[in-house]
Amino acid sequence: MMSDPNPTDAVILVGGKGTRLRPLTLSAPKPMLPTAGLPFLTHLLARIEAAGVKHVVLGTSFKAEVFEDYFGDGSKMGLEIDYVFETEPLGTGGGIRNVLPKLRGDNVMVFNGDVLGGTDLNAILETHEKTDADVTLHLVRVGDPRAFGCVPTDEDGRVSAFLEKTQDPPTDQINAGCYVFKREIIEQIPEGRPVSVEREVFPNLLAEGKRVFGHVDSSYWRDMGTPEDFVRGSADLVRGIAPSPALEGPRGESLVHPGAGIAPGAVLIGGTVVGRGAEVGAGARLDGAILFDGAVVEAGAVVERSILGFGVRIGPRALVRDAVIGDGADIGARCELLRGARVWPGVTLPDGGVRFSTDV
Ligand code: GDD
Ligand code: MG
Repeated sequence: MMSDPNPTDAVILVGGKGTRLRPLTLSAPKPMLPTAGLPFLTHLLARIEAAGVKHVVLGTSFKAEVFEDYFGDGSKMGLEIDYVFETEPLGTGGGIRNVLPKLRGDNVMVFNGDVLGGTDLNAILETHEKTDADVTLHLVRVGDPRAFGCVPTDEDGRVSAFLEKTQDPPTDQINAGCYVFKREIIEQIPEGRPVSVEREVFPNLLAEGKRVFGHVDSSYWRDMGTPEDFVRGSADLVRGIAPSPALEGPRGESLVHPGAGIAPGAVLIGGTVVGRGAEVGAGARLDGAILFDGAVVEAGAVVERSILGFGVRIGPRALVRDAVIGDGADIGARCELLRGARVWPGVTLPDGGVRFSTDV
């Protein structure tokens, strides 16, 4: 048991279906996709552990068993991990309410399970204490706030509105997907039905005049929910642009795992990751590519800013750019897959079967 009489718990919401990352998320939940060689959630858990928070509750639903099979009781990471399963997804607010029986402290840090970040978690807790907030939201500034929760604050840092995915954002300050809640606020979330923390809980708290504060910083931050962001975030981890206490040693232009084979003359740049047992043929060029375990890129093929699922084969001189290739798919020689192409698991494309040009 913990010696701290009033520990802060961490809750991670990992129950989403990860639809924007299909077809990779047909077989694995988004927070478990390999990212710089580790299930994505490992990076977040390592940050939580490094901040001194030791009790973590995962709010699971979609493919729940995958998390427990991998992380178990958390002791290998120096954590104590509990799992709370939603038979029907309860939404972000319902997921937080659902873990209440497992919470031990007066304050609870809640995390979206798909955020790669470098923020100082203890600084957020300090803001929460200093402002005597009911809820504190970590906020970051982004170029296009429309895909996020837009969160304006007043000059004291007090949140004045919460506008989830608005087309007309009044500020570039957005919800970074990390909150500190007073436990009693979680007790007031309705039980046993789907609730959105963004569309229901936060707007209601503001209407009731509760003390909701923002903690703004400019640390590394990325939501990994789309293929573009997943590729960028993974490359940033490999190159050391994104921090992770789970990664050791120097970082560079590529990360090649044990058992992978790289033929002479292959070029690996842009934060490329080559998984265990993967193969890269002579003269192939990988730039910002992610090869899950057992993927094969044959001689002279080019893979740029793309994700190749487990056991994918890319044939000789094929071109794959800004694409997602599902597990076990077989892409024939000289095929071209560009600009958001998604190939479903197990699909076979014959040699020269898909082209974006008439060049040989
Ligand atoms: N337990 C549980 N149950 N978890 C869920 C559920 C559910 O029903 N639905 C979603 N989640 C989890 C997802 O697995 C993910 O880790 C997290 O909640 C957020 O869901 P996303 O689907 O990734 O939301 P988003 O990226 O569109 O928007 C959210 O994150 C943005 C920052 O990354 C919102 O919180 C935005 O306001 C925020 O700006
Ligand atoms: Mg997200």
